[in-house]
Amino acid sequence: MTEKETGTGQLSRRERFRNGAEKADFQGALRDNPVHGDLNYEDALHRMPFHLFAHLSRVELYVRLLCFEMAEDGHREVNKSDCLLWGRAAFFHDIGKIRVPRDILTRPEKLPAGEDAAVREHPRYGKEILMALKPAQPFSKDPELFDLAVAASLLHHEWWNGAGYPLGLAGQDIPLIARMTSICDAFDAITYGRPYRKARSADAAYREIKEYAGSQFDPVLSRFFVEHGPIFLRHADCFQ
Ligand SMILES: [Fe+2]
Ligand SMILES: [Fe+2]
Repeated sequence: MTEKETGTGQLSRRERFRNGAEKADFQGALRDNPVHGDLNYEDALHRMPFHLFAHLSRVELYVRLLCFEMAEDGHREVNKSDCLLWGRAAFFHDIGKIRVPRDILTRPEKLPAGEDAAVREHPRYGKEILMALKPAQPFSKDPELFDLAVAASLLHHEWWNGAGYPLGLAGQDIPLIARMTSICDAFDAITYGRPYRKARSADAAYREIKEYAGSQFDPVLSRFFVEHGPIFLRHADCFQ
């Protein structure tokens, strides 16, 4: 409701957020209080810049499609009834970025070492934020979603060869949801670009995923993703 509608002369919390009055405070509070007691799902969405929300939404869709195609193809680790849940978990993979100052996230040039370190903390921030959200909807009623979201968030920058972060896990020790998210995340980063790097074609994305199969990415999943590329390409187009 608007101020006019409430007739109280007071702006609602949502309106203060929209007007930007609370955004800076919230961002600071979250940074200073990683396990912020009254953080809820709505707050987390309010803190999100649109470009981040759009990225998370696309990755959610790609993981959902990848999961469905894998199940269709007879991959035993997933089944079709998991697809919505796994996609939704992947949505949260970069939620930790709401704790990274916005000017760092949107800087149009490559970040210097100190600020790059702040971005590299986002998987850990993501886990902390999800822990704070655990008692709230949608996680309070869905522990499986919570566990998958934590795995996607904390571990989507791990590399198959152990050279990733934050834990340096390797191979099958990286949960499948995180390995799937990692590939879909890279596909989106390449085809949509980043503030400091232009978007490239889907073919360039497939080439890069192939090139890093076995080092950054799960080799079997990478091959599957690239072979089913046209599906992802079609759905990437629907966001243009
Ligand atoms: Fe990330
Ligand atoms: Fe991402």
